[in-house]
Amino acid sequence: MPPRIVVLRGDGIGPAVVDEALRVLDAAGFRADWLEADIGWSCWRRAGQALPDETVRLLEAHRVGLFGAITSKGKPEAEAELAPELRGRGLAYESPIVALRRALRLEAGIRPCRTWPGNPANFIRRGPGGAVEEPAIDAAVVFQSTEDHWAGIEFAPPSPALRAALGESPRFAPFLDVPPDDLALSVRPATRGASRRIAEVAFEHARRRGLGSVTLCEKPTVLRETSGLMEAEARLVAERFPEIAFRALNADAAAARLARRPEEFGVLLAGNTYGDVLSDLLAGLAGGLGFAPSASLSPDGSALFEPTHGSAPALAAIEPAIANPVAAILAAKMMLDHLGDADRARRVEAAVASVVRAGRVRTYDMAGLRAAPDAVARGAATTRQMGDAVIAALG
Ligand code: NAI
Ligand code: MG
Repeated sequence: MPPRIVVLRGDGIGPAVVDEALRVLDAAGFRADWLEADIGWSCWRRAGQALPDETVRLLEAHRVGLFGAITSKGKPEAEAELAPELRGRGLAYESPIVALRRALRLEAGIRPCRTWPGNPANFIRRGPGGAVEEPAIDAAVVFQSTEDHWAGIEFAPPSPALRAALGESPRFAPFLDVPPDDLALSVRPATRGASRRIAEVAFEHARRRGLGSVTLCEKPTVLRETSGLMEAEARLVAERFPEIAFRALNADAAAARLARRPEEFGVLLAGNTYGDVLSDLLAGLAGGLGFAPSASLSPDGSALFEPTHGSAPALAAIEPAIANPVAAILAAKMMLDHLGDADRARRVEAAVASVVRAGRVRTYDMAGLRAAPDAVARGAATTRQMGDAVIAALG
């Protein structure tokens, strides 16, 4: 029986890159029952719900999803772009990604990033004597995805009861007199259990991928309780993985180090606020968002695979599509690994590597071009051409 896999194309460039991932999987001989599910801004505009119940039901039933990207916009646009008959009903937009993570308990985010030899978008720097160095990056950000600020616990205006309760902290004193409508609050929960589990995922990923080290990137010097809890748990987990080096850096210092010596990093472990930023930084160093896949896993076996990038609305407006589908193809590769299809995963990865190495087919981002309608005329491959090249390289 072929596995049943939920496909969430989403908005913007999501559908185009997911199409290429599906074509590559098919060409690699992977067979599945694909169940299409709605998600994103178009659902919100049409139905006032960015994450339809049916989509959650399908994912709960079948456990594995391949996702493109969605568009989220701020509060004023959320109301203004709602179908006229739905306006004024008090419908509140919530990012469907946050909602999905909560609904399916997708608490572990894994974002591997490596440089692919031959990609002109790889990070380079000047070494001693002015020589150009292109260090090989092979790292991953592993981040907790259901707590921290992405738990989405926010208040505006905060109720009188909440304000009174927060008054227990002397540090809230400067905010007690702020008029309610001028105050917005975000709560950053961290639990011992989730902190321990994400550290375990980080160390296990380091072991499986031979990455050698785990660096906790939080801020326990300031966020003493939440980051402090993560650090305490990570240290305990580290004792069970003696062959993997562990260090803790402040997230800002880690960012500076990463920008100069990315090859020194293996797994970067973080909560989602820092993890989100550091994973985009790492992606930027390793060829850009067009090369960055992502997996979200629950402790009980649900898994969602997607490119790290968003819906890139300006890019999506260009015809024919020119977004780089490699991130989505690599997300599909991660899905194959998850499904135990390691040989096919290796074939897909090798095909991507050979296309990048050959350098004949390059999307606009690899070619250093602007995301503009004339990119193809200037030599950029389209989304489809890149998919075709990977398929041809599958052999
Ligand atoms: P983005 O990732 O969509 O785009 C950032 C930059 O990366 C843009 O310059 C874009 O052209 C480039 N880029 C992204 N994907 C690319 C690809 N496959 N090939 C080549 N270049 C690529 O992030 P941005 O602009 O902050 O957000 C746009 C929308 O996406 C927003 O509505 C945001 O909320 C949403 N978003 C959704 C995510 C998701 O679905 N998981 C993640 C991040 C943002
Ligand atoms: Mg992000």
